[in-house]
Amino acid sequence: LARQSGPKPLEGRHVLLTAGPTREPLDPVRYLSNHSSGRQGYAIAGALAELGAQVTLVSGPVSIASPRGVDLVSVETAREMMAACEAALPADVFVSVAAVADWRPSSPADRKLKLKDEGKGPPALSLSENPDILSTISRLEKGRPQLVVGFAAETDTVEENALRKRARKGCDWIVANDVSGDVMGGADNEIALVTDAGVENWPRMGKTAVARRLAERIAEDLNGKGK
Ligand code: CTP
Ligand code: CA
Repeated sequence: LARQSGPKPLEGRHVLLTAGPTREPLDPVRYLSNHSSGRQGYAIAGALAELGAQVTLVSGPVSIASPRGVDLVSVETAREMMAACEAALPADVFVSVAAVADWRPSSPADRKLKLKDEGKGPPALSLSENPDILSTISRLEKGRPQLVVGFAAETDTVEENALRKRARKGCDWIVANDVSGDVMGGADNEIALVTDAGVENWPRMGKTAVARRLAERIAEDLNGKGK
């Protein structure tokens, strides 16, 4: 049974999306990462594909299956994610859902760090800043996607931080979510959408519902109804 007939609203559009955490190696067996499950990003990728978009999903390591009809590119580190995004451009839309690790160990060891190495005690962690994928793509002079959407995971003063983050990143929209509760890895999400028209608070709903609603909004914007 076809749910919809006729042309889909994102037919012929290419959407690039990042999701999941990144993993930054400390040595061959250890890494720095975060609690992102990839669920919200994967749901958005699936919802965009259902609206007819060609979706490139650049994903860090997650334990969930790729949604139907998307092109999955699997990466581990932030630098690999950046390179995979650059390789996948051009795109009409970029949606940056990944929880990119802000820092990576500066000089990962090529052999496992040993507990009793030279009686030195715990090694000091020296960190370097990772590339900012969202800022880089937002500020492309040539070939910037026409709509760039960032996410902001905040634990406090959510709206205020989101407004500031939108300006700092140079993106068009920010989807802000409050991660002070059980959102990371959980089934629900409560978000605020920040656009140039202001802030919209969406009621708490499942991650699939958030994804569908966001995909619809993206389609409206591209087709000229949302502006
Ligand atoms: N992001 C990115 N590359 C990074 C860091 C973040 O593309 N190196 C993107 C995320 O995918 C998200 C947005 O930037 O869409 C905001 O990420 P967030 O971690 O909330 O913001 P930061 O600028 O890293 O600031 P902070 O972690 O201090 O809140
Ligand atoms: Ca961050």
